Amino acid sequence: LQFPLLPISALLLLFLCRLPVLLQAIQNPGDLQLQEKAWNAVCPLVAKLKRFYEFSLRLENALRSLLEALTSPPYAPMQHLEREQALAKQFAEILHFTLSFDELKMTNPAIQNDFSYYRRTISRNRLNNQQLEAENEVNNEMANRMSLFYAEATPMLKTLSNATTKFVSENKTLPIEDTTDCLSTMACVCRVMLETPEYRCRFTNTDTMLFCMRVMVGVIILYDHVHPVGAFAKTSKIDMKGCIKVLKEQPSNSVEGLLNALRYTTRHLNDDSTSKQIRALLQ
Ligand SMILES: *[C@@H]1O[C@H](CO)[C@@H](O)[C@H](O)[C@H]1NC(C)=O
Ligand SMILES: *[C@@H]1O[C@H](CO)[C@@H](O)[C@H](O)[C@H]1NC(C)=O
Repeated sequence: LQFPLLPISALLLLFLCRLPVLLQAIQNPGDLQLQEKAWNAVCPLVAKLKRFYEFSLRLENALRSLLEALTSPPYAPMQHLEREQALAKQFAEILHFTLSFDELKMTNPAIQNDFSYYRRTISRNRLNNQQLEAENEVNNEMANRMSLFYAEATPMLKTLSNATTKFVSENKTLPIEDTTDCLSTMACVCRVMLETPEYRCRFTNTDTMLFCMRVMVGVIILYDHVHPVGAFAKTSKIDMKGCIKVLKEQPSNSVEGLLNALRYTTRHLNDDSTSKQIRALLQ
């Protein structure tokens, strides 16, 4: 499976570019020079947003192939992970990318405003699709689809959970446990690596710890989306108490985003079947 991820450095660039000129242009609608400057500034940003949106579509397909490979009979989930370590690593890389992207997106709400400026400009100036395509810009239909994507609080994670749900519902012959066991096994591997001193001391830097924590949270969220009773129930194959504890032992600035992801992007946390203890741990 050849699947190069977009570099995180490109991501940082995307979110770091704030566009003060847009604000000036919005405040001075009559100033045509300013409007032009704003347009020229916003187009490259929109091109980047498009690149990441298109990437999410590829991510969806890649995840499906990965799940197919990691759940195909006759092997058990642990055997799969042992036999196909490179695929498991690729899956982990995808989850790491996904949670990094969404964390940055959540802390930079400005990109949505910048994108609205672009959409308003194309509709006010009645720039038609042909004109936009000729200049290599994002056309109306694409802008609408992108707008729905970026309106999600955690767009990349939503893409993955949609893809996982779709995979499970499309493969009726495949028992749902094959998929959820693959996810819970990965969560378990991450948790054990994080909480066992002998393993943890082999992590040479904090990035590795963070990588492991993101992957753990990512598979928990996917599990919670596809498993009928979710990750927080007593019957769950994920030791949620253990996972949350290991997160809370880390410096809070590095895990706050991950704890928030568990609080706000899971499906079953507020179910009656969730124990009071787990709820308290996440409060
Ligand atoms: C996820 O699926 C829902 C329902 O099918 C859809 O409305 C939404 O746009 C999808 N989100 C992403 C990011 O793919
Ligand atoms: C899952 O469904 C897809 C599409 O229907 C099919 O191509 C694939 O072989 C199925 N995989 C498994 C493991 O059942």
